[in-house]
Amino acid sequence: MGADEHKSRRLMSLLKKRGYIQPAFELYGGVAGLYDYGPLGGRLRRNVIRKWLNHWIKLGNIVEIDSPTITPEAVLKASGHIGAFNDYASECKSCNSIFRTDHLLEGFHNNPDSLDNTALDKELLNHDIQCPSCNKTDWAPSEPLNLMFSTTIGASKGGRRAFMRPETAQGMFLQYPSIYRHFRGKLPFGAVQIGKGYRNEISPRQGMIRLREFNMAELEYFIDPESNKNYNLQLWDEVLVNLIPDPMGGDSKELSSTINEAVEKGIIRDKTVGWFMIKTYELMSELGINTELIRFRQHEIDEMAHYATDCWDLEIFGCYGWIECVGIANRGCYDLKAHQKVTKSNELKAWRDFEKELEIEKVVCSPIQSIVGPQFKDKSKMITAHLEELNGLEIEFPLTININREQFIIEEHMVEIKKIKSIERGEWFTPHVVEPAFGIDRIIWHILEHSYQEVSKENDEKYTILSLKNNICPIDFSVYPLYEKDGMPEIAHEIIDKIREVNEININYDGSKSIGRRYARGDEIGTPYAITVDHQTLEDKTVTLRERDTQNQTRLSLEELVQFVSKY
Ligand code: GLY
Repeated sequence: MGADEHKSRRLMSLLKKRGYIQPAFELYGGVAGLYDYGPLGGRLRRNVIRKWLNHWIKLGNIVEIDSPTITPEAVLKASGHIGAFNDYASECKSCNSIFRTDHLLEGFHNNPDSLDNTALDKELLNHDIQCPSCNKTDWAPSEPLNLMFSTTIGASKGGRRAFMRPETAQGMFLQYPSIYRHFRGKLPFGAVQIGKGYRNEISPRQGMIRLREFNMAELEYFIDPESNKNYNLQLWDEVLVNLIPDPMGGDSKELSSTINEAVEKGIIRDKTVGWFMIKTYELMSELGINTELIRFRQHEIDEMAHYATDCWDLEIFGCYGWIECVGIANRGCYDLKAHQKVTKSNELKAWRDFEKELEIEKVVCSPIQSIVGPQFKDKSKMITAHLEELNGLEIEFPLTININREQFIIEEHMVEIKKIKSIERGEWFTPHVVEPAFGIDRIIWHILEHSYQEVSKENDEKYTILSLKNNICPIDFSVYPLYEKDGMPEIAHEIIDKIREVNEININYDGSKSIGRRYARGDEIGTPYAITVDHQTLEDKTVTLRERDTQNQTRLSLEELVQFVSKY
């Protein structure tokens, strides 16, 4: 076991002991790929999500929506998830264990995720890959397995087939008409959704990294692909990021660049994608991810999800190597078009004004009412509307039209073909979508890992500090009475009540065990400040404020403490 693996085990055991995260259903033996957030983890998760949400909402043209996780089959058929949302799996013929084929090839191929089944099988053979369970090398041909959990809506036999959503994104596409109305039809705008996603992973592993039920946070940003993109990327010209562009079949190369330069050179093909890359990088830094351990990797063509035309993954380095934590994809008009095709809805579009109005000559087919009226009676209005939609030039008579399963024959003498001039001010088009999609659990794991510090003390003991950022830590302040007597607990509670009035922060009371043990516990769970009530407090109402990262202590009056907290 390497040093990193030892460290990650110690971190995992700390997180479990202190109530951050733990494998779910452990009392029943656990289930691979399912995790619980405990009392501290639940709060951390909420804080990360709140920060994520504010980061996007404050841009002003982004709203939050929420939609069901249970999704009817028809939606996921249209979106392409039924049919294309697969991973290749290989079964060991000797022990019948099943593994993701690309995972078996890790370390033997640069990017096994980009290979098709024939290439995957060939690589298994070429590298003599052994079954991780029984060490044999006898593999059945790899097969695509769909990753969605299926269910039925309704208890009776006629229930509708459905799936637990594999992404939250479809909720935003289906709510597009309402979001479009909300923004009065003014692109660009976006919608976010935070919630659970489900993928029935073939062989979940790596702790929190590959979960079967996971926390997703996705943003769908609807744009007019033809309009100018006025993002000022120069604002980040001080920030160099590591990029690994699609090697296009050659060797992949990492480069360090500003996002602005990478967009100008065409390394990042779309400016909106570039803008979301830098905004995402900024957010990761604010959440406490070590930015030296971030890189962006562009998907190879064969690796991309079925809906994407381009995708950059934000990868974070930790004890599991480089892990995709965010995918920033250009989905083009794939999803809105797919839902238009199936539902025939004309609400999945946007209006674009022309720069200059156009005068257009149209040939229209206009029914002569004195003939059509008596002939078709109550149906004549419907037939007139139908004929007016036809382009007169294309019509051959007699013309047969079908409306609501009824057939009508239109003779040439019933209509007048007219040329009319009209002014066109704009047109309807299908917006394009850029999507940053975040795996919240993976991000939380890396926040914890990057915050975890083992400091060696003189006696060679390890002292642990979780240096979580103030804006996300589960407990902001802990108040410790030096002893649980002589009125110290009462003063501690008074301080807590006072501080809660000042600021919406999480402050707790801890009176158990020695003060040294309590400081250590606070540092270990990442509480940035400890307030201690001691004998001097009884005399002059001052307390000590101890800072987690430096362990410096300052003596403050209660007024000074309140002032400090109000600026926190
Ligand atoms: N919506 C992005 C994903 O499914 O990963």
